[in-house]
Amino acid sequence: MVSESEPLVEVRNITKNFGNIQALNDVDLTLREGEILGLLGDNGSGKSTFVKVLVGIHDPNEGEVFIRGEPVDIGGPKDARRHGIATVYQDLAVVDEMSVAENMFLGRMPRKSVAGPVSIIDYDQMQERAEKILRERLNIHLDPTTKVESLSGGERQAVAIARALVTDPDILIMDEPTSALSADSTERVQELIRSLRANGISVLMISHDLNEVFDLTDRITVLNNGDLVGTIDTDDVVEDDVLGMMMGSMPTEQAQSA
Ligand SMILES: Nc1ncnc2c1ncn2[C@@H]1O[C@H](COP(=O)(O)OP(=O)(O)OP(=O)(O)O)[C@@H](O)[C@H]1O
Ligand SMILES: [Mg+2]
Repeated sequence: MVSESEPLVEVRNITKNFGNIQALNDVDLTLREGEILGLLGDNGSGKSTFVKVLVGIHDPNEGEVFIRGEPVDIGGPKDARRHGIATVYQDLAVVDEMSVAENMFLGRMPRKSVAGPVSIIDYDQMQERAEKILRERLNIHLDPTTKVESLSGGERQAVAIARALVTDPDILIMDEPTSALSADSTERVQELIRSLRANGISVLMISHDLNEVFDLTDRITVLNNGDLVGTIDTDDVVEDDVLGMMMGSMPTEQAQSA
């Protein structure tokens, strides 16, 4: 059994330029086994770019990624999934006309052979697996045959998260998972994120909502204008410290401590 503080993902010295915009400048980040790590920073500070570099959507100009201490080369979302990383993107898209199960298995629906090489989608298996993921991983009871258009905002986000869980990841990245939700739905989705951690999934979560960040995260990494400001234990700071970090300065006490 690994200890809680074991580094699961280590990202070192990431630099990413878009033409002459320096979106990330020598950024380090460590996600530990079993934690929820918040990634914070003002608009345009580089958070989404960081996530896209980590999952191989963007090629960094410099930098390395290690998983469980091993250097890895992540060339795209497929590689990321192979390394146990799944992502729920900021501009989440679930397909309204499709069922919960179809959304979860979009692009990778299980098939069964009917006659020699001829196969069809195995709806029974798909629905069974969808229901199991929702119940066991997220602790929610949704009929997998329900069309997504009839769901609440929070339930739709749950489907987007459940879709990321189909590949059985141990690392889940979420870019603003609650930003488009009502207060009620937000609370439900926050519960889901806690149950992910309870199920041993390590979470990297981008959020602008400081209350949420203080409620959910174990540690916080802050970016400012593409630079890493620092990483702190959530219990060691108050909101003003984090606001200060978002403007570029570490709280004096906590500097270097996390
Ligand atoms: N594909 C791209 N091409 C050119 N510039 C980009 C691209 N993606 C991001 N940028 C620029 O990189 C910088 C960082 O953007 P990024 O989207 O990572 O910020 P963010 O922290 O996620 O912001 P937000 O909180 O608004 O989502 C910005 O200046 C942005 O305009
Ligand atoms: Mg963003």
